[in-house]
Amino acid sequence: MNTELISGDVKLRGFKKSDGFRMAELANNEKISRNLTDGFPHPYTLQHAEEFIGRFMDQDPVTIFAIEFKGYYVGNIGLVKGTDIHRKTAEIGYFIGEPYWNKGIVTVAVNLITEYGFKNLDIARIHTGIFEYNTASQRVLEKCGFIKEGVFQKSVFKQDKFWNEVRFAKINGS
Ligand SMILES: CC(C)(COP(=O)(O)OP(=O)(O)OC[C@H]1O[C@@H](n2cnc3c(N)ncnc32)[C@H](O)[C@@H]1OP(=O)(O)O)[C@@H](O)C(=O)NCCC(=O)NCCS
Repeated sequence: MNTELISGDVKLRGFKKSDGFRMAELANNEKISRNLTDGFPHPYTLQHAEEFIGRFMDQDPVTIFAIEFKGYYVGNIGLVKGTDIHRKTAEIGYFIGEPYWNKGIVTVAVNLITEYGFKNLDIARIHTGIFEYNTASQRVLEKCGFIKEGVFQKSVFKQDKFWNEVRFAKINGS
């Protein structure tokens, strides 16, 4: 399905096979992987990128998008719906390559996917947990109207240490 969400220089679109090389290049960065679950590999290879693209290229409806800035692939953003009693909730996740940080790109991308998710994915709530040291990501969600719901003490074990996880959520219509 060819879903595109656009605001200014930022576009969310489905993945193309040709995104693989740049995805691997940008994702292979410890400053990115340290903020994500261990499911996000480090080192991040072309094979990882191609497998990811293969898995999410033909989604209907699209829930995992490539982020483009001024026509160039710069990162990924997605909503993963819960199951069973959490089927009306989705978890949001995202990263962009370091050369593009602090240009407001993810703030625009989060606003686009949040609006899309509430309109199209039959969900009432979008949430995520952010590691305590990732203040930039916490700031992004604050700017997008997400509410800090609480801090889960030592919820995360990452790089051989415990960390608090800061939980943020946005409710449809709020
Ligand atoms: C976190 C990340 C998504 C932010 O994306 P971005 O496009 O740079 O975000 P924006 O430019 O829209 O906003 C960043 C905000 O954080 C602020 N910020 C940046 N570094 C910061 C820091 N070290 N401490 C506090 N605030 C910081 C910026 O000043 C900006 O806020 P402002 O507009 O009030 O000035 C991006 O850095 C990234 O991909 N990081 C690695 C992966 C990751 O952390 N993913 C999220 C996991 S929960």
